[in-house]
Amino acid sequence: MSKVATQSHAAASPPGGTCYKVLVWEDGALPAEQLEAWQTARRDLLARMRDAGIKGARGTLAKLGDALRELSAECIAKPLDTCAAASLSLTRVGALAAKLQREEAVLAYRLTPCSATILAELVGEEGIDTLVNRWTASTPELQWCATPLVEALSPAEAAEWQESCRAEQNEAGADTESDDEGAATPFHHVTVLRAEAVEALQPAVGRVLVDATLGGGGHSELMLEQGATVWGIDQDPAARKAARKRLAAYGERLHIVAGNFRNAATLLREAGLDAVDGILADIGISSPQVDQAERGFSFLAEGPLDMRMNPAAPRSAADIVNTAAESELADILWQYGEERASRAIARRIVQERAKAPITTTTQLADIIASVLPRKGKQHPATRSFQALRIAVNDELGALDALLESGLGLLKSGGRFAIITFHSLEDRAVKRYFDRVTRPEIDRPEWPAPRPNPEYAARLVTRKPIVAGEAELAANPRARSAKLRVIEKL
Ligand SMILES: C[S@@+](CC[C@H](N)C(=O)[O-])C[C@H]1O[C@@H](n2cnc3c(N)ncnc32)[C@H](O)[C@@H]1O
Repeated sequence: MSKVATQSHAAASPPGGTCYKVLVWEDGALPAEQLEAWQTARRDLLARMRDAGIKGARGTLAKLGDALRELSAECIAKPLDTCAAASLSLTRVGALAAKLQREEAVLAYRLTPCSATILAELVGEEGIDTLVNRWTASTPELQWCATPLVEALSPAEAAEWQESCRAEQNEAGADTESDDEGAATPFHHVTVLRAEAVEALQPAVGRVLVDATLGGGGHSELMLEQGATVWGIDQDPAARKAARKRLAAYGERLHIVAGNFRNAATLLREAGLDAVDGILADIGISSPQVDQAERGFSFLAEGPLDMRMNPAAPRSAADIVNTAAESELADILWQYGEERASRAIARRIVQERAKAPITTTTQLADIIASVLPRKGKQHPATRSFQALRIAVNDELGALDALLESGLGLLKSGGRFAIITFHSLEDRAVKRYFDRVTRPEIDRPEWPAPRPNPEYAARLVTRKPIVAGEAELAANPRARSAKLRVIEKL
C-alpha cells in the first residue's frame, strides 16, 4: 500500500524566521483529483503572488502564504507534518531528491512571515506534470501515515543528511549572531570605487538596490546611508556576519541573502522580489579572505590549500591540485592565470603529488617556485594562485550567469554596475555590455545592418571608471579596478 512519507528534519524555526516545508510522497500516493486541485490552485496563487510585485507584497503575500498553507493542509491531507527546517536550502532539497527513488516526489516550499514560495518540485528526472498524469484515481483506500524522512533513506544516507543539515544550520546560526562580539573575526576590507559605484546606482529613499557582493558592506553602507533598501548577497558566511554587524543600524532596509550571485534572480524571486532599481557587483575576493591564512588563498602564509569563498562548496584547491589531470591543471593555469609556464608547472605538480598529497599553500608555492625562478617583484606563484582561485570558485562562470540574468531583474531605467579586477573579468563585462547596448548589428555578408534582438540597455560609462590618484595612494588594490555601468532601456 502506498504511503506518504513526510518530514522534518527537526530544527526550531526562528521566531518570525523562515520555515521550509518539505513533503515527500510516493508514486500513486495522492488521489489524482486532490493533486489536480492542488496544482491548479497553486499555479493561480503563484501567478497572483507574481502580480503582487514588491509593492504591497507584505500584506498580499501574507494572505497568499496563509492560503497556500491551508491549501496544503486540505489537499495533501492531515498526516503531513510541517517540516520546520530553518536553514534548509534549495540545493539541500535537490540533493535529497537525488538520493530518493525515482518514484518518489519531493515538493518543497518556503514560508516566511510574509511569503510562501515554491522552491522545488522534483520527481527523479521527470517533471511533476508527467507524474501527475501517471497518478490515477485508484487510491481511495490510501492508508496515510507520517514517516520521518530519515526512514526513507538508508542509515548511512540518513546520517549524512542529518550531518549536512547540522552544518548548514550552524552556518545559518553563525549568520544571525550579529551581536556576538567575541565570535566575529575582524573584517578589514577597503571598499574600492565606493562613491563612484554607489553614485552610479542613484540610491534614494524607496529605491531597491542589490549588492551582489556584500563583502564587509562598504558599498551597501553608502547605499543605505542615502536611503535605499539593500539586498546584499554573499556566499561567504564570514562576510555576511561582518556586514550584518556593521549595518545593523539600518534595520529592515537591509536584507542579507546567503548564496551565489550566479543564482541572484532565483534567490531574489524566492524572497518575493521581482524587479529592482540597481545591481552592483564588486567582483572577486575580499581582503580578509586573502589575509586569513586558514582560508588558503595566500601563497605568503602557511594554510590549508582551500580557496573556497563559500566554505561549503564541494571542491577546494587541494581537490583540484591533487586530482585534476595534468592537462586540465595546465589549462586552468593558462586560461585563468595566463601563466606561460603552465605546462611545466602542471607537470611538476603531478610529479610531486605522486610522492605525497599537496595540502598547504606554501607547499604549492614552493613547487611553483622550483619551476619558475623569481623575476622582479612578483612572486612566481601569483598567477597560478589566481588561476586556481578562479577555478575553485568558478568565478567566470558565476560572472557570466550574473550578466545574463541581471538585466532581467532590473526595472526600466535600472542600473547595472560591475567592478572588475582583472582583464578576464573586464573582457566578459565589456563584451556583454557591448552586446546589449548596440541598437544594430552588422555582418560582412549582410547588405545592411539589422536591428539587434538583444538591444536592451544604454552605456552609462563609455570608458570604464578607474580609481583616482587619492584612492590609489590610499589603496594599491584599487589600481586594477574598472567600473562599467549600463542602464536598462
Ligand atoms: C571584493 S569583495 C566585496 C566588498 C564589498 N563591496 C565591500 O565594500 O565591503 C567581494 C565579495 O563578494 C563575494 N563573492 C564573490 N563572488 C561571489 C559569488 N559568485 N556569489 C556571491 N558572493 C560572491 C566574496 O565572498 C566577497 O565577500
